[in-house]
Amino acid sequence: MTAITAERPTPTATLAVACRRVTKEFGTGDARVQALRGVDLALPPGEMTLLVGPSGCGKTTLISIVAGLLDTSAGEVEVLGTNLTRLSNGQKVDFRRRNIGFVFQQYNLLPALTAAENVAVPLLIAGQPRRAAVAEAHALLHQVGLKERANALPSELSGGQQQRVAIARALIHRPRLLVCDEPTAALDAQMGQNVMELIRGVAVQPDRAVIVVTHDSRVYHFGDRIVRMSDGRIEQVEQHRPEARGGK
Ligand SMILES: Nc1ncnc2c1ncn2[C@@H]1O[C@H](COP(=O)(O)OP(=O)(O)OP(=O)(O)O)[C@@H](O)[C@H]1O
Ligand SMILES: [Mg+2]
Repeated sequence: MTAITAERPTPTATLAVACRRVTKEFGTGDARVQALRGVDLALPPGEMTLLVGPSGCGKTTLISIVAGLLDTSAGEVEVLGTNLTRLSNGQKVDFRRRNIGFVFQQYNLLPALTAAENVAVPLLIAGQPRRAAVAEAHALLHQVGLKERANALPSELSGGQQQRVAIARALIHRPRLLVCDEPTAALDAQMGQNVMELIRGVAVQPDRAVIVVTHDSRVYHFGDRIVRMSDGRIEQVEQHRPEARGGK
């Protein structure tokens, strides 16, 4: 079903994500954890990459670094042609707001806000008037199949519905890089397929890229590329032929 192909080198400037010798350590002394041990990764735009591997192997750490939420201990990270390791904290926040959407492992919805208000948050932070931002949020909730639940609080939504709100929130500012941490973990098989289809459909465009962390082998066929991690390193990159992806 999949083919392992020799990767042709792609010029860095055209890559969506380029990591070079990235390491990350947490803590000091006895509590020191080496979460990433020299990660090299090159992801072209226009693709959905699935990042897989056992619990604790460094998946969340790696995508947090790529999304500019966490600094490297060493190595370089370039996202959409910008070297994140050379940005100040303020520049990084600005870059993230303009270019990156992040769906967290635990959705991180704000409990006191409705679904539509949660989705509107990135636009409100960017200074858009409230009415326009909430109207756009309603349109996006319609797109993810939650039109009828736009005024519900997160506590009134199912796990799958909360996940779709989190995805809508990550997409509302049309990020060029969407990063999702286990978006199907809390979902049944059918809902998992629906969410992956949704992410592919709205986020995979020629000048955009998507990275999805998953444990769920039932959704592997959605990926253009499967990156396997183990113990802080990338073990293998598998590229799916378009025809092997089931015509998606
Ligand atoms: N803030 C932190 N402080 C200390 N150690 C951390 C921190 N975050 C992660 N780690 C450690 O780094 C390693 C990688 O963690 P990470 O969360 O990236 O794994 P993961 O592959 O996402 O796992 P899972 O599939 O369980 O989500 C683990 O050993 C973890 O305990
Ligand atoms: Mg994780």
